[in-house]
Amino acid sequence: MSSPLPLAEPLGSGAGSLEDVNAGRLHYDKYCKLCHAAEGKGYAADNANALSNAEFLSTADDGFLYVAIDRGRPGTPMAAYGRPRGGPLAPKTIEQIIAYLRSLQTKPSVDVDSRRVAGDPVAGKSVYDESCASCHGQKGEGTTAISLNHPVFLGTASDGYLRYAIEHGRSGTAMPPFAGDLTPSQIDDVTRYLRSFARSQDALSGDAVAVGEVPPTFERIVINPEGPAPEFPPLRDGRYLAAETINDALLAGKRMVLLDARPTSDWLLSHIPGAIPVPYYAPDKIVDALPRDGTWIIAYCGCPHAASGRVMDTLRDRGFKNTAVLDEGVFHWMAKDYPLTFGAER
Ligand code: HEC
Ligand code: HEC
Repeated sequence: MSSPLPLAEPLGSGAGSLEDVNAGRLHYDKYCKLCHAAEGKGYAADNANALSNAEFLSTADDGFLYVAIDRGRPGTPMAAYGRPRGGPLAPKTIEQIIAYLRSLQTKPSVDVDSRRVAGDPVAGKSVYDESCASCHGQKGEGTTAISLNHPVFLGTASDGYLRYAIEHGRSGTAMPPFAGDLTPSQIDDVTRYLRSFARSQDALSGDAVAVGEVPPTFERIVINPEGPAPEFPPLRDGRYLAAETINDALLAGKRMVLLDARPTSDWLLSHIPGAIPVPYYAPDKIVDALPRDGTWIIAYCGCPHAASGRVMDTLRDRGFKNTAVLDEGVFHWMAKDYPLTFGAER
């Protein structure tokens, strides 16, 4: 008699023990599911790609995954989760998450990194503009799909990795296979063109900023504590307030609390002045310290609603009255040149 099917034998480079896989699943559910969805199916929020996708896992090796999780993709909703960046995860925890992802891998790993790609980036630009820009953005910044111009990504994705994704696509996602539609040399050309997106490598070489998450300090929670309460319009869908409304209220010296729902690593890079880091996976830490006198409490994230929405729901469950989510998210806030501060300063 055959034994019941064991958990899929990990196919990739980092075969973890069953214990690691199980621990990794719990960490995944706590930290990653919010955006990448249960079992890595992707697209619970934003452009968070399908981490369990067969072509992705068979070409992304453990080093690629580790760097992506540790350093994140600063400037996108993908935060740096590694402790050296001010994120919540120890190296061992990241390895367990990778072991869990490996357990979801259904195709054997392919060695893409040794493949040399010689193409013409100039010819590649016309291919890109015609066939790729609609989803990945004019400069690879990502519109409806993951970005392709991020230095952390380009610093870890080999030419062979890029070429494989373009040729084979990502089954079950919006990324079509281009084999057939494009000639092999056109695929080479567009692969070379993606390299020209490389901005700076700062994100790869940058110094670590902190070890572990910086605990929020509870001394100053309320912004403009002596100021009057803001008079906000009705919330959109009972939840959302426009960035402009919040900025106007702050400029007018109105009293409120701002919670940054992203991992502390993102808060350290830049945040709205006065905001306290309250990561979506650990909102409880702060709840007892928040004022219960009706002071407005507004959460924000980059997503723009997933992480902030979770923090706000926790507050509402605990009976807080005036709570809202910053509707457009912090990237819109930055694009508008509204006030920001950097580093551990509040
Ligand atoms: C707030 C939403 C959010 C959360 C939470 C999140 N991610 Fe992401 N992640 C994203 C987005 C969006 C991208 C794509 C970024 C881009 O466009 O470059 C991404 C990209 C990635 C990538 C790179 C994929 C590739 O193809 O290059 C990996 C790996 C990854 N995330 C793993 C994780 C893991 C593991 C966790 C939990 C520890 C996690 N993410 C938590 C939103 C999130
Ligand atoms: C219809 C939308 C769409 C078009 C058109 C498209 N892509 Fe994609 N692409 C995606 C999505 C969505 C993903 C992420 C899929 C996933 O979840 O794994 C992706 C993934 C990729 C990846 C892997 C990125 C990573 O982080 O691992 C590369 C490389 C890529 N695309 C290049 C291209 C190129 C080059 C073209 C044009 C020849 C193109 N794409 C056209 C939607 C698209």
